Amino acid sequence: IMSKSVLILPGDGIGPEVMAQVRRLLDRIGGFSLSEGLVGGAAYDVHGTPLADDTMAQALKADAVLLGAVGGPKWDSLPFADKPERGLLRLRKDMELFANLRPALVFDALAGASTLKTDLVRGLDLMIVRELTGGVYFGEPRGIEDLPNGERRGINTQVYTTSEIVRVARVAFELARKRDSRVCSVEKANVMESGVLWREEITKLREADYTDVALSHMYADNCAMQLVRAPKQFDVIVTDNLFGDLLSDCAAMLTGSLGMLPSASLGAEDANGSRKALYEPVHGSAPDIAGQDKANPMACILSASMMLRYSFDMAAEADLIDAACQDVLNAGIRTGDIVESGMTPVGTVAMGDAVLAAMDKRSGG
Ligand code: NAD
Ligand code: IPM
Ligand code: MN
Repeated sequence: IMSKSVLILPGDGIGPEVMAQVRRLLDRIGGFSLSEGLVGGAAYDVHGTPLADDTMAQALKADAVLLGAVGGPKWDSLPFADKPERGLLRLRKDMELFANLRPALVFDALAGASTLKTDLVRGLDLMIVRELTGGVYFGEPRGIEDLPNGERRGINTQVYTTSEIVRVARVAFELARKRDSRVCSVEKANVMESGVLWREEITKLREADYTDVALSHMYADNCAMQLVRAPKQFDVIVTDNLFGDLLSDCAAMLTGSLGMLPSASLGAEDANGSRKALYEPVHGSAPDIAGQDKANPMACILSASMMLRYSFDMAAEADLIDAACQDVLNAGIRTGDIVESGMTPVGTVAMGDAVLAAMDKRSGG
């Protein structure tokens, strides 16, 4: 892609804090046309909506979108349609970002920072592929209704079509081919019809196009347990929107902190081989530490690295960022969420300083 236009949406809470560090890295690498917009509570405060139509249009035009985080107590009691989270959900839906890649990678230096035993997580490298534009997040009917007997009823619908299942499964199989060629498909086919369909369609797809990839099936509750019992058994996990949300937070803790986990949300490939994409850390706006220079910027930094890799074919630059993060962790420079005994935590900005310095050192600057 020639232009490399990136729309930056810092959002709320720690979003702007971690994104400020990412901007420094992108400026250092150079060659991007960066613009910034509002999403979430920040957008609501200015426009009365968590995502203005104009921002949505900009997102659709950009080569990639980088998002910080949305939400916070200030906006929690707003009507549903105005909530910050709706801004993010609209971006995902309208950009048709059906495949959410959430890698859980344990940096060697952080093996001891996990709440799990070091041997259990050392060397862990798994990829969760979460379906992102369907399921109970978007299914109809939905809503809260009054019943004649004075009760109220809250409704959400879990629904998947064959094409929704097949397109996200394809992404998982393709990724597995570049990794250890193993896909574990996760649902609850024992209690949900949508899970039965999910299992049938993925099995058929494998038989048709991916017999070189090993496919296994697991119930979601067992998967949650297996993730903390023996996480290294997994290569690629493919699952629905809600299970993927839960299981990826769970996988995050294997890596030491939610503050370490990046993600890429991808749409379908077009005729030119490019796809719409949004990159964001898995964590939220962390109201408990917002505005205190405490947030770990690495999840957002590593999300930017995924953007370079997946959207811009800049593997060398992405490798440089990843290696710089590794250097910083190896040197014992840690934010509070990943600090180990005997270390003094650094702040968000100091962490950004350290990653920049490590990049300069590696590139001989
Ligand atoms: P959260 O991810 O914001 O925070 C959970 C815990 O992890 C907190 O203790 C927080 O301090 C810690 N944490 C998260 N990111 C961190 C980082 N980078 N460095 C250090 N510590 C970090 O989840 P929550 O508290 O359940 O949600 C807060 C708000 O964020 C809610 O409004 C929620 O809807 C929203 N949220 C947004 C996103 C998103 O924008 N993608 C994701 C999850 C939650
Ligand atoms: C995430 C978040 C979002 C989700 C919210 C903020 C809409 O938890 O990105 O994991 O549930 O998908
Ligand atoms: Mn989540």
